[in-house]
Amino acid sequence: MQVRILYASRAVGPQTTTVTSAILATAQAFNRQHGISGVLCQGQGLYLQVLEGERSAVHALYARIVADRRHKDVEMLQLEEITERCYPEWSMALVDLSEEDAMVQMKHPEFDPYSAPGVLVMALVEEWVAAGRRIELPAT
Ligand SMILES: Cc1cc2nc3c(=O)[nH]c(=O)nc-3n(C[C@H](O)[C@H](O)[C@H](O)COP(=O)(O)O)c2cc1C
Repeated sequence: MQVRILYASRAVGPQTTTVTSAILATAQAFNRQHGISGVLCQGQGLYLQVLEGERSAVHALYARIVADRRHKDVEMLQLEEITERCYPEWSMALVDLSEEDAMVQMKHPEFDPYSAPGVLVMALVEEWVAAGRRIELPAT
């Protein structure tokens, strides 16, 4: 049984390159070993993360992520059972949502994942990925 989840959280402290690199390094190594794939979007003080894989593995990882003190207000936005992964080859890709970005600011000026429907946020993540906003991909 495979699932895909989406959650939102708020960064504790600035989202610096150092913090991001540390998170990604852990994520890519662990996820590859545990058959988990996904995308981490970060910027504007927010994280949005899609995790996909075996249900038990995804839930175990989610529990660890919730306990991580580098972010807070972790809220699950969506959980779906899947037969196919969206991001099978990415142990964890990074999408940058920096404030200067016209696409985030102008197209979705009042974007708030905590009040938006989960399906909409998931669709936005897919849109950003499709628009080529991946800025860092795990080594294959
Ligand atoms: C926003 C965010 C996303 C994360 N994503 C992952 C991930 O996909 N995979 C992973 O193994 N750790 C991820 N982590 C790190 C985990 O929260 C945790 O630090 C790591 O799994 C080590 O767990 P431990 O402290 O229980 O050993 C993430 C952390 C944050 C703040």
